[in-house]
Amino acid sequence: MNDNLHQLRCFGCGARISGREARPDFRCAECGDLFEVDYPGWGQRKGHDRPNPGALKWLWRERRCSSEGLDHSGVWRFRELLPILDNFGNAVTLREGNTPLYSLPRAAKALGMDQLFAKHQGMNPTGSFKDTGMTAALSVARERGFQWVACASTGNTSAAMSAYAARAGLRSLVLIPEGKIAWGKLSQAMDYGAVTCQLKTDFDGCVRVLTQIVREAPVYLLNSVNPYRLEGQKTPAFEIAEYFDWTVPDHLIVPGGNLANSSALGKGFRELKELGLVARVPRISVIQAVGANPLVRSIAANHGESMEPVEAHTRASAIRIGNPASWRKAARVVQETGGFCLDVSEAEIAIAKAELGEEGLGCEPASAVTLAGLKKLRAQKAVGGGESVVLVLTGHTLKDADYTIDFHRGTLLRAEEARGYEAPIEGLRRDAISVEATPEAVLAAVKGIA
Ligand code: F0G
Repeated sequence: MNDNLHQLRCFGCGARISGREARPDFRCAECGDLFEVDYPGWGQRKGHDRPNPGALKWLWRERRCSSEGLDHSGVWRFRELLPILDNFGNAVTLREGNTPLYSLPRAAKALGMDQLFAKHQGMNPTGSFKDTGMTAALSVARERGFQWVACASTGNTSAAMSAYAARAGLRSLVLIPEGKIAWGKLSQAMDYGAVTCQLKTDFDGCVRVLTQIVREAPVYLLNSVNPYRLEGQKTPAFEIAEYFDWTVPDHLIVPGGNLANSSALGKGFRELKELGLVARVPRISVIQAVGANPLVRSIAANHGESMEPVEAHTRASAIRIGNPASWRKAARVVQETGGFCLDVSEAEIAIAKAELGEEGLGCEPASAVTLAGLKKLRAQKAVGGGESVVLVLTGHTLKDADYTIDFHRGTLLRAEEARGYEAPIEGLRRDAISVEATPEAVLAAVKGIA
């Protein structure tokens, strides 16, 4: 199964092209929609030619103990399910994936649930889930001989892309909205040697500019319209299934921004089922911020038939996206798996993030929408107490330390945003205190608080 016979299939009109025929903007020449990587050979393999699920499961687990670099990657150890390279020797890896899956005992108790987990994708080499997609797509860029790669980003994609480009010896161009991305992410792009351009526009404006650039210059586009990104980003689905010994949890909850990650995880579970590795797929729900909720609106208005872009506003800067590229794919995943799509307020995000902090798990504000969304779904009784649920935490807490500090200092939210949530916010805030440099003063301060 590891021969590179993939095709790109248009998600809109079904047109098929070879990988090398893709246009630089990865849009279908027939209908303008996005492509998905497809492996037509899989469906044709019958009888003895069919992959042996037991052997694959054994091999993938065994590779974790191998001394081979590629096997240490939580993406490439599953390489039989992403044969996108002519030669796996071209893979550029920083040992991404193999991220931890934590139980959330406090949140589970508060929500009356038995089995609640967090898959922490912030524990990747550059601190976000983007690494799993970047190792895949950047390896394709290298194999195809590109010298330059580029992305528009709310920060994490640019951090991941510039790191992997540096590893591969490629040059990278980053377009970010000026003043609108977290410092942690901007500092990474600088450190990894990207040409970082801050544009006086939002993320959606950066995408528009970059789309024109790649049509004119020999630059390989690494935004998530690039279908190879999703091949890497589907692999956490394999890890989750493996963790549960190839049964799957009932429900996966994912933040929604440009909407590629939910699509990728849905594809991962769908392929596992098609290949007979799991018996069913989990529900997949997508949670957006109230101020950046075009998919929520689209599903409510017309079941995801069309989508109206919005002007995006949220402090969860990673998902401040008003015109998400992969909305059609995400809508299909939500609908096909019986998932939900809903939005959460700024106060709900801040509280959920602090609650995860109380479990010893830091994450980005964009990741905390998952817990905030689950709390709503539990309140609506859409999720039962006996269901097993996995929250996908997408980014590391240190990406946006300013957000966390502002929350604990009480300067994050405006009074009208916090209205109705004052008590939980006060209960969760832990501001640093100024104390005289004597043991007595410190002990008195501890007594005062404890
Ligand atoms: N969480 C984090 C931490 C992100 O950085 C992003 C997207 C998302 C969630 C949403 O994922 O776009 O696949 O729906 N960040 C992008 C970036 C867009 O440029 O880093 P999505």
